[in-house]
Amino acid sequence: MTAPEVKFTQLFINNEYVNSVSGKTFPTINPTNGEKICDVQEGDKADVDKAVVVAREVMKVGSPWRRMDASKRGKLIYKLADLIERDTEYLARLETLDNGKPLSASRVGDVPAIIRVLRYYAGWCDKITGKTIPVDGDVFCYTRREPVGVCGAIIPWNFPLGMLGWKIAPALCCGNAIIVKPAEQTPLTAIYIGSLVKEAGFPPGVVNIIPGYGPTAGAAISEHMDIDKVAFTGSTEVGKLIQQAAGKSNLKRVTLELGGKSPLIVLADSDVDVAVNWAHEALFFNMGQVCTAGSRTFVQEEMYDEFVKKATELAKNRKVGDPFDDSSQSGPQVDKEQFEKILEMIESGKKEGAKLECGGGRKGDKGYFIQPTVFSGVTDEMRIAREEIFGPVQQIIKFKDMDEVVDRANRTLYGLAAAVFTNDVNKAIMVSNRLQAGTVWVNQYHALDVASPFGGYKMSGTGRELGEESIHEYSEIKTVLVKIPEKTC
Ligand code: NAI
Ligand code: MG
Repeated sequence: MTAPEVKFTQLFINNEYVNSVSGKTFPTINPTNGEKICDVQEGDKADVDKAVVVAREVMKVGSPWRRMDASKRGKLIYKLADLIERDTEYLARLETLDNGKPLSASRVGDVPAIIRVLRYYAGWCDKITGKTIPVDGDVFCYTRREPVGVCGAIIPWNFPLGMLGWKIAPALCCGNAIIVKPAEQTPLTAIYIGSLVKEAGFPPGVVNIIPGYGPTAGAAISEHMDIDKVAFTGSTEVGKLIQQAAGKSNLKRVTLELGGKSPLIVLADSDVDVAVNWAHEALFFNMGQVCTAGSRTFVQEEMYDEFVKKATELAKNRKVGDPFDDSSQSGPQVDKEQFEKILEMIESGKKEGAKLECGGGRKGDKGYFIQPTVFSGVTDEMRIAREEIFGPVQQIIKFKDMDEVVDRANRTLYGLAAAVFTNDVNKAIMVSNRLQAGTVWVNQYHALDVASPFGGYKMSGTGRELGEESIHEYSEIKTVLVKIPEKTC
């Protein structure tokens, strides 16, 4: 068996699958062969308005959702996680069909990722506490964390299930209602999750899922006067639009998880094979379509030639093919637009004088497959060293000493992640402290845990997801000051 049957293609509003108000549909494409999988109902502003009406109802004081015990909310979220786990194989296949990522990765990475984040925040529900504060005067002061209200979530296509989980889990944990717009390239798993939300027993209107395009359905969320928060993962370009829309409408709370050009620094004292292997995964994992991709590999000059040789060897041997084939390490890029953008970036690397060590073009003549590509002799001014490529293209850059490399690594508009490879603990800490990045890895890459915060410095975003930080992003603090007759102690 390869491709699974698609069971749902409609909008999910108020716990029901419905057609869009306009009746329009859009195709979702299989990136492995470029053919249409199916048509999906296309949501727009009118559909977002409908979802906002039901979500606002849910958030009214006294509604079943508002009155629900926190522990019961936790049980519902655990139940949703259990149902996703039950349907792991189906969801993994659906994700691979729509996105093109290897089935093995969907099974052990993407589906478990949403389960894990749901369970983590399910456990938080009845542990969200306020403070009592010793303010001056005869006053009893305490704080409460209350839900923000109706949240919007705009999801990218690179980790459709994972990013859905990062948004809905903390939103539900804090008692909010949520309206989700999945990416137009990969709407199918999010739509299916709607059926599991209903089966788990969430009250109607708590979770709403509106597939559609960014400038229409997405913008309707970020501009909406009655949506209290928007969480976005995607390009820096669109992140700016979302922040502007929030500013021009109702100053809704905004969290942004944006692009990156993350440096991976290899000091000459590190183990070359360890560093080469991690640097390869840092870049080629998920076909390079990762916001934290290690897309500037800085290698100290003493090790440079050996590193380039070994990195090239690894890239040449990477198996790119049918994502339903268990031996494939990479599948196709997500769509034609990304495919063409990456090929154009590869051409710019060649033109600007980087040395193409391997790859450099499309693979096969069907679907959006690209050969794993390695450039050496890359300099900081080249476009491939400055712009996010979001594809399987590794840039290997030479440096002389530590101060110089930290300075060059930080010379970017982004600040999402960074890594340093060294066997000297002093250097590891010194470099980590000086890198401007939301996450720094030492002697590894891509390690993420739902318990630790994730987000970016500079133009890689604002706010943090995961960990206790997300509880703060999805709740408002209320301070209550109670006049008491006199100080009792
Ligand atoms: P994008 O930022 O346009 O898309 C991400 C999400 O935003 C999608 O759901 C899309 O429908 C929505 N969107 C688009 N325009 C919008 C608008 N005006 N208002 C509200 N929502 C909107 O990213 P795209 O075009 O798919 O990819 C472009 C580049 O962005 C990629 O090549 C990559 O460099 C970067 N990217 C980064 C991601 C990350 O994980 N940080 C994820 C996806 C893309
Ligand atoms: Mg776009």
